[in-house]
Amino acid sequence: MADIHDKITAKYEALGEKPETYLKGLLQAKPINYWDYIEVETLLSLQRPRTDFKDEEIFIMYHQVTELFLKMLLHEVKQLQETEEVVEAVWIEKLGRMNRYTNMLIGSFDIMKDGMRYEDYNVFRDALTPASGFQSVQFRYVELHCTGLANLINTEGKKRLPHDPSIADYFEHLYWKDAGHNRKTGKKTLTLRQFEEKYEAPLIGLAHTLNGKTLNDKFKQLKAPSAALREKLLEFDRLYNVDWPMVHLNTAKHYLDKKGENKTATGGSEWKKYLHPKFQQRTFFPSLWEESGE
Ligand code: HEM
Repeated sequence: MADIHDKITAKYEALGEKPETYLKGLLQAKPINYWDYIEVETLLSLQRPRTDFKDEEIFIMYHQVTELFLKMLLHEVKQLQETEEVVEAVWIEKLGRMNRYTNMLIGSFDIMKDGMRYEDYNVFRDALTPASGFQSVQFRYVELHCTGLANLINTEGKKRLPHDPSIADYFEHLYWKDAGHNRKTGKKTLTLRQFEEKYEAPLIGLAHTLNGKTLNDKFKQLKAPSAALREKLLEFDRLYNVDWPMVHLNTAKHYLDKKGENKTATGGSEWKKYLHPKFQQRTFFPSLWEESGE
């Protein structure tokens, strides 16, 4: 006890403060509790369905759970991206976490497919137009932190790029613009326009900041990355860019194309084409795939 007292005294003296004042404060402070610390009541107040369908709340909550997992993912990605030196052991640990979170999203996605009533979803979704998961900015943050813009452009987009493209040029041809930009008519869907209005400028700003400093750029600092690290990076690339998109696409097919009816999605994209990894060709660490020959 005397030891702790001495340490507390030393801590506040080092700050030029009187330790007694802080000790007196401690005497008055209320003990922390679970509900305040975790902000349970705030969290549970964030579900505001727009219809009377009970399953709409599941839809909202599962999207919120996903956004929290994306935040956890970004929390790890940012630490790797912001640290100057690439320390393999740290990368392997953090990528292990990123893969675990992404696996949880893949493994739980059947909450969306089998965990809602088909008939109800297909009615309440009409009230959600033009909102779409497409407008998840955290999904785009993960992409921008992981890789350069050139790796987020598919073969068709690359053909359209001008010679020596600027960041703004790259941005115009990112694969995800195709969800709402009709290149023949020049028209953009309201879903895309809303998203661009809110996030285009900050996303382009972020792309400038991250230019040459993404995870893909950083791991290349290692002259001979270990097999363990390469494996973890490839695993993440596969989980985020192939496996999650596939469970997501299969869920869209379940609701929107069960009987070959190809319904319009809330975001208005040509979703069957757009959501397929073969169309998107999103790859975070392309040099590793070339090496692996897969
Ligand atoms: C019943 C469940 C779901 C269906 C039917 C569905 C359907 C779709 C469709 C059709 C699109 C293409 C854009 C559009 O036209 O709207 C899309 C995009 C997207 N959705 Fe979902 N979605 C579902 C659940 C979710 C959930 C739970 C999330 C989690 C946040 C999510 C995140 C996304 C993302 C990030 C995109 C953009 C994907 C990309 O650009 O590669 N979706 N969704």
